[in-house]
Amino acid sequence: MTTTDPRDHAIAVLKENDRGTYTVPTKGLYPFQWNWDSCFTAIGQAHFDENRAWTEMETLFAHQWADGMVPHIIFHVYDDGYFPGPDVWRTNRPVKTSGITQPPVAGFALKRLYETSTDKEAAARRAKTLLAPIHRWHRWFYACRDPKGEGLVAIIHPWEAGRDNSVDWDEAFARVPTEGVDPYERRDLRHADPSHRPTKEQYDRYLWLVQHFRELEWDNTRLHDASPFQVIDPGFNAILIRSCADLADVADMLGETAIADENREWVEKSIDALDTLWSETHGQYLCHDRVTGDLIDSASIGGVMAVVAPVPDHRAASIARTIEREAEKARFIVPSHSLDDPRFDSKRYWRGPVWLVVNYLIATGLRAAGEDAVADHIVKSSLDLIALSGFAEYYDPLDGAPLGGRTFTWTAAVVLEFLAGKP
Ligand code: GLC
Repeated sequence: MTTTDPRDHAIAVLKENDRGTYTVPTKGLYPFQWNWDSCFTAIGQAHFDENRAWTEMETLFAHQWADGMVPHIIFHVYDDGYFPGPDVWRTNRPVKTSGITQPPVAGFALKRLYETSTDKEAAARRAKTLLAPIHRWHRWFYACRDPKGEGLVAIIHPWEAGRDNSVDWDEAFARVPTEGVDPYERRDLRHADPSHRPTKEQYDRYLWLVQHFRELEWDNTRLHDASPFQVIDPGFNAILIRSCADLADVADMLGETAIADENREWVEKSIDALDTLWSETHGQYLCHDRVTGDLIDSASIGGVMAVVAPVPDHRAASIARTIEREAEKARFIVPSHSLDDPRFDSKRYWRGPVWLVVNYLIATGLRAAGEDAVADHIVKSSLDLIALSGFAEYYDPLDGAPLGGRTFTWTAAVVLEFLAGKP
């Protein structure tokens, strides 16, 4: 890379990882299309190629399942460099996909693409074709992951949260057996330092769940109740709520009132339910274990990024104070786990490192709630990290060291937003 201008550099990263109709998160480590990565990618691409940005989202939704689920990985090409590949998932799709989902950023991304578009006519046309599929995905969530109609959806595999090895899952995950897992060879360790990645024991459990769901033939009317792992993640739910609200706004602009109304009903119900996850002690939301019925005592980023939903202002203000307290201990914010917790690990994936997409979501929520000082601090910290360490997958909050994959797509995408003064 010869250029030093961060905008040019970010665009170069996005182009390098572009495979024509979808973008890989980074070469080597992640050679396929990932669901929430793609939605952030589209937001970044819109800064220099609107047409390409719409294509990114359209490709993702072209692989939506008949039941409404949008899978977390689409295996467009054969690549031996990633495990578990399609032969493990065996979801029996024309183009191979995984069988679980990821945080539903699409509604949020759709609104962002639509409001920033310069060709409103083309944008309206393309947004209109995405409205119904995104709506079906939202409906799938409330039907299949909230079977009792509580207003909160559960994830049934840690990978669904997008925060693979968070401390949040430790207790609930301990219930997942490891017996009977087929022999396997991890590929991530070929590309990244083992001490920065999940452990073998965690991988065994990830795979046990995949095999279990596979035996149930990926039937989403059965998976939730049959899973020994059912966790309500406030960050995940907040993203869904935010996407429902944003989808409703776009639907209104395009005259699709029925879609707008149903999404607003979900927002109203879920925003109240989210409040039951609030912890006064931690000054943030916590995960809830649906199997035991308990809140999970783990101050992770999941309960901080919940501020991306339209939560009450006093909750956003408390979260801003919580982040300020973390900032007294970490040089770069926002760490993915609280430094006050002995389980914090500055280098291990989702157990401490800073992730810029999460920063982007938190800053978006804080800005909307008028918490500008902390939002500005997060943006500054994010830009300081890329100046120091480039476009890494994640960063050590103590010294800013780059960790995981390099030339990382979603990091570049949100940097384009930060540089444009968003949020
Ligand atoms: C890791 C992350 C997940 C992300 C994927 C591709 O699995 O935990 O959130 O979507 O990599 O970047």
